[in-house]
Amino acid sequence: MDNRPIGVFDSGLGGLTVAKELMNHLPHESIIYFGDTGRVPYGTRSRETIIKYAASDINFLLTQDVKAIVIACGTASSVALGYALQHYDIPIVGVVASTAAAAASATVNKKVGIIGTSGTISSGSYERALKQLDDQITTHARACPLFVPLVENGYTDNAVARLVAQDYLSPLKDSGVDTIILGCTHYPLLKGVISDIMGKDTALIDSGAPMARQVGKLLADHDMLAEGTAQYSYFVSDTVDNFSRYGSLFMQRELSDSVSRIDIERY
Ligand code: DGL
Repeated sequence: MDNRPIGVFDSGLGGLTVAKELMNHLPHESIIYFGDTGRVPYGTRSRETIIKYAASDINFLLTQDVKAIVIACGTASSVALGYALQHYDIPIVGVVASTAAAAASATVNKKVGIIGTSGTISSGSYERALKQLDDQITTHARACPLFVPLVENGYTDNAVARLVAQDYLSPLKDSGVDTIILGCTHYPLLKGVISDIMGKDTALIDSGAPMARQVGKLLADHDMLAEGTAQYSYFVSDTVDNFSRYGSLFMQRELSDSVSRIDIERY
């Protein structure tokens, strides 16, 4: 048993879509969430910058005596997990492996679409993970940079969102994929629109539930599951003002917990 919290970080508040699933699947686990709202987005930045930011996010979480770290951000998982595993002596998991495994089990025709930020797609992380799992799988990847600002502005189910999604997803639809990896924290909120365009037989795989199962297994294997009542703490690197509004959007429930601002440049 280990009652220390799990540290979760993301480039902003989108990673709450993953934290939400951790809370649902592992109700005894306390969570320290850090959203790098002062430096978001990560998805358009260089590899060096993403690694530098991820390292400082991890350094901050380590000051909170966490027992493991979850990289909720698709971009940071794709670009910085290798660095993190080499440089830190604590269990660290990114979203790519478990999400790719869920997609590999879901696909029947072995054609998988991958959508994510430009950083995630150009890293090739999901293609590599899928090929390792099953070299019969063919992949069709597409960066969807406008999805993040659409979601952040509440455009999750309107004509603008549909038009943009139609444009991004048409090549994937034409390629005949039967499964799509939603490789970004924000995309679960666009599931309705994506499903309407792709058709309801296309499996949409987001990171939250597979990640929560992987973390549960990791903790169980190391006898590190918590017992008792979970506590949640939230930290951001910019103003706390919009936390409950944006946080509620991603958690899909009212968020009344308190949040603290930290100076991430110190870490
Ligand atoms: N959290 C990022 C991701 O999942 C999306 C937002 C950003 O670009 O930072 O890739």
